[in-house]
Amino acid sequence: MATDAVILVGGFGTRLRPLTLSAPKPMLPTAGVPFLTHLVLRLREAGITHVVLGTSYRAEVFEDYFGDGSRFGVDLRCVVEKEALGTGGGIRNVASALRADTVLVFNGDNMIGVDLVDFVESHRKTDADVTLCLTRVEDARAYGCVPTDADGRVEAFLEKDPNPVTDQINAGLYAFKRRLIDTIPAGRPVSVEKETFPGLLRSGADVRGYLTTGYWRDFGTPADFVQGSADLVRGVAPSPAVPRPGERLLMPGASVSPKAKIYGGSTIGARTAVGAGADIDGSAVFEDARIAAGAVIRRSIVGNRVTVHPGALLEDCVIGDDAVIGAGIELRYGARVWPGVHLAEGSIRFSSDL
Ligand code: GDD
Ligand code: MG
Repeated sequence: MATDAVILVGGFGTRLRPLTLSAPKPMLPTAGVPFLTHLVLRLREAGITHVVLGTSYRAEVFEDYFGDGSRFGVDLRCVVEKEALGTGGGIRNVASALRADTVLVFNGDNMIGVDLVDFVESHRKTDADVTLCLTRVEDARAYGCVPTDADGRVEAFLEKDPNPVTDQINAGLYAFKRRLIDTIPAGRPVSVEKETFPGLLRSGADVRGYLTTGYWRDFGTPADFVQGSADLVRGVAPSPAVPRPGERLLMPGASVSPKAKIYGGSTIGARTAVGAGADIDGSAVFEDARIAAGAVIRRSIVGNRVTVHPGALLEDCVIGDDAVIGAGIELRYGARVWPGVHLAEGSIRFSSDL
């Protein structure tokens, strides 16, 4: 029996602004390729080759890169929502592109190490209407909290509950029986988390949980994005797009001084130059950037064509495309610099949006 894959990629990526002003979140470069590439190649590896992208925000960026999917060994189609329809609306909107009886639905910003074949087999064996892939986290408040009973039946779905009843959360991967998708209302925004799942539970549908203990991370915040990117570079997060994991990844055309230190799973993007004595730890530097001698960059995301002048320090920062960080400037604690902003030499700042 065949399986379709739907990937929800229509969100605005607000928490990753300003990087998501130029590219949608699932297309940000991670370990050398647009994030979504890791998932598409994992699907192919699992033998799931019919892939439908539910797009909305910046839909053309996905179409330009993936085309019909043949470059990636899959048969891929983009379906566009004119107005964002939410996660449930996004699933309903691709219904006409589906062919199989079992439909896997992925949040497009997650890395999930689960054995996809085993997940699908479990869903078919229990004959559930929907199977939710679950994982455990330390703090469940930012996620969908999903308590289950002793037989693995889902008891409730509580999205972003401030007082979670369990540390077991929605890992952003579902297996649906095809016919269930047609029951989601068409043509209006629907949240699968707030409306569809609670509704299915109320109506007595058979909704099961499948707990995974493998790698899992949502890449939706700057802190998660840098950590996840480093995990991919180091091979902590498995991906067929990273054939030779290591402490650092230098993309083609990157020129790095032999006296620079680059480690912690950092990526140096194509044609980016890094000067002597620069120290780059656990960071993602995009393309065509210039990192001058003695600059220190930790756990930060540095956009395309950014210039970082000598001796500047960036810690836990997000630097938008084309920004210029003057010599000696120190930015910490989640500071975000908007695209094209020039911070003059010596004007030392610590935080807030610049
Ligand atoms: N097509 C489409 N249309 N996709 C959308 C839309 C939309 O209107 N809105 C969001 N998406 C996509 C996003 O692009 C993302 O890939 C996915 O749906 C999830 O949206 P997020 O905005 O990242 O949600 P979240 O991280 O706050 O919470 C979700 O993910 C958690 C796990 O990472 C929920 O599903 C939680 O229950 C879950 O625990
Ligand atoms: Mg997310």
